[in-house]
Amino acid sequence: MYKIAVIPGDGTGPEVVREGLKVLEAVSQKYNFKYQTKIFDFGAERYLKTRKVLENEDIEELKKYSAIYLGAVGHPEVKPGILETGLLLKLRFSFDQYINLRPVKLYNADFCPLKDKKPDDVDFVVVRENSEGLYKGMGEFKDKGAKDEVAIQISYNTRKGVERCIRYAFEYCRKRNKKKKLTLCGKTNVLTFAWDLWQRTFNEVATEYPDITTDYAHVDAATMWFVKNPEWFDVIVTDNMFGDIITDLGAMIQGGMGIAAGGNINPNGVSMFEPIGGSAPKYTGKNVINPLAAICALGMLLENLGEVKAGGAVEGAVIKVVNKKLKSLAAGKMGYSTTEVGDLVVNSL
Ligand code: IPM
Ligand code: MN
Repeated sequence: MYKIAVIPGDGTGPEVVREGLKVLEAVSQKYNFKYQTKIFDFGAERYLKTRKVLENEDIEELKKYSAIYLGAVGHPEVKPGILETGLLLKLRFSFDQYINLRPVKLYNADFCPLKDKKPDDVDFVVVRENSEGLYKGMGEFKDKGAKDEVAIQISYNTRKGVERCIRYAFEYCRKRNKKKKLTLCGKTNVLTFAWDLWQRTFNEVATEYPDITTDYAHVDAATMWFVKNPEWFDVIVTDNMFGDIITDLGAMIQGGMGIAAGGNINPNGVSMFEPIGGSAPKYTGKNVINPLAAICALGMLLENLGEVKAGGAVEGAVIKVVNKKLKSLAAGKMGYSTTEVGDLVVNSL
């Protein structure tokens, strides 16, 4: 019996999660597994009423679950940063979800903004370090508000933190068994402390994986290759900040935020799965947002629980819907409502 903690969150989060849960129900019947869900009301609404984002007791409660399924965080009435750091980042850090796994896979060439690129050309996975770097929140102001003010923001990289991420990426690349190529994406030419550590660790760990071809790309060049030659990539490993940036670009070349999903993974603990887009306030409550990213996130969640066939079936159903039915992957332009797209996936299962 899997116990799934559901955090629908803000904006369109509840609408896409609703469709994900519909698919979960259908796929559980087909593949014969049992699960329970519990909905948690963390997010803007609760914050605006109680000023509470995520308490220690909430974390304790979530520890009882097999996985967390998250919709979206962010609300126009809440100052930027409060929910992002207090909820999303707090969950990632509290559960030591040190990997942010973001597949970039094009399901239908019609939805790719790149000329002449086909599904085979856009098919790679970004392994983003998810617990350190600039996201650690280290730094300070000196003379805040003064003319000579200085703001320092530190990128914090530990050998252990870097190594566990790189190791995960090598293992993942081997298991994925496609091009068996792992690209380190960094900035060794300028950020000479952090990326020296990353590069040394990468080179050392690489000696244990003679079957994997290694490569390196500076992050600025990587954004260029994403557009020019995405087919060069198989698995990419990078730090938290660069991973954040390049995966938004990745989402665009796979068809947009409507389809991009990710997992915040602790290989030995509770992992959390989410569509990588935001809460899309302007589409809230309109039943027009694309739920496929959330449905793909559910597929990743199932795979993580060990329900590999069910997870694959969810992805397969999404591929069918993307190829046979939808006019676009963008909110309001799909030719179907949010609810109808969820139904299409269920029927394709
Ligand atoms: C993401 C988001 C988050 C991040 C924000 C909402 C804190 O952009 O999941 O990529 O920066 O990691
Ligand atoms: Mn982001």
